[in-house]
Amino acid sequence: MARPSLLLPALLVVVVGGVCAAPASACADDPMLERFQQWMGRHGRLYGSTGEKRRRLEVYRRNVELVEQFNSMGNGGYKLADTKFADLTNEEFRAKVLGFGPHGRTGHTTAPSTTTSLVDSGMAEDYSDLPKSVDWREKGAVAPVKNQGDCGSCWAFSAVAAMEGINQIKNGKLVSLSEQELVDCDTEAVGCAGGYMSWAFEFVMKNRGLTTERNYPYQGMNGNCQTPKLNQSAVSISGYQNVTASSEPDLLRAVAAQPVSVAVDAGSFVWQLYGGGVFTGPCTAELNHGVTVVGYGETQGDADGDGGGTPGQKYWIVKNSWGPEWGEAGYIRMQREAAGGVADGLCGIALLPSYPLM
Ligand SMILES: *[C@@H]1O[C@H](CO)[C@@H](O)[C@H](O)[C@H]1NC(C)=O
Ligand SMILES: *[C@@H]1O[C@H](CO)[C@@H](O)[C@H](O)[C@H]1NC(C)=O
Repeated sequence: MARPSLLLPALLVVVVGGVCAAPASACADDPMLERFQQWMGRHGRLYGSTGEKRRRLEVYRRNVELVEQFNSMGNGGYKLADTKFADLTNEEFRAKVLGFGPHGRTGHTTAPSTTTSLVDSGMAEDYSDLPKSVDWREKGAVAPVKNQGDCGSCWAFSAVAAMEGINQIKNGKLVSLSEQELVDCDTEAVGCAGGYMSWAFEFVMKNRGLTTERNYPYQGMNGNCQTPKLNQSAVSISGYQNVTASSEPDLLRAVAAQPVSVAVDAGSFVWQLYGGGVFTGPCTAELNHGVTVVGYGETQGDADGDGGGTPGQKYWIVKNSWGPEWGEAGYIRMQREAAGGVADGLCGIALLPSYPLM
């Protein structure tokens, strides 16, 4: 811990003394600057001013230190990385890319019944008829990973991925559907300021369908509802179903049948900087992000030879909407049946799952 206290005054001198003022090459002796600039190139990041770039470099530096410290401790087989969110503080990250539940409302943990334990609800039933692993991507039921951008529209992406899934399973065609129609036209939700997947399903039921991504492309911001497109539906659903809360076995049965929308706590730095492996937390059950479970499985051992991962570790395959450059090509594998048998599931994944009916 002596290192940070030694480093900090040095940083202050650099910033106050303006040694890093443009041109940036004045700081070429700072190895982090070079790494930061490579990272900026990789993610196409540009800043409006030298001051902003300098500020972002310091945030990036702190995040990289966090990543290296975390990875050196070998936390249970998953890794952190300087993801595309590595120039954001955790507070900025949380404000940017979540969106489950309308903002301003707090405490939507909506744990309907946390008294149901795994043993009560699940193990008594027989789940031996279910396959040991399911991956709806391999069956062509999952569209490429999308990017919600700087908009709290995760709820739309989560619901759309579940509808794309059931439509492919029922009709044999993978049709990419419009999140923007939900953002603009679902008046119950508040667009980029958040919403619930259940509201998205209800909108599609009432509207008798949803149009395609191509017909109503994603903009990443609130817009006026393009009403002529409301009746240009490509896919419709007959209803939706909530999975029994706090039952990972019931979630397993649902996912074996189709991709399922879930809500999780994705607000912590370990989500922000997730770089691959079976994610084991830490996180809470305070739901703030909508994602879609598109499969489940179990690790076979150290298949990738990177020294990480424990054989026989059970996981959910979770599709996120932060672009393909985050996590495992846009996905995160989240520990299933976490040690201690948390009925809510890791990050509350089993608290509020739902899926569309067709
Ligand atoms: C869709 O709605 C528009 C008006 O917004 C109308 O002109 C058009 O005829 C409708 N099309 C169908 C197929 O109902
Ligand atoms: C599903 O759960 C949500 C949240 O508890 C609730 O508002 C909704 O009415 C439920 N929907 C169905 C179809 O049971």
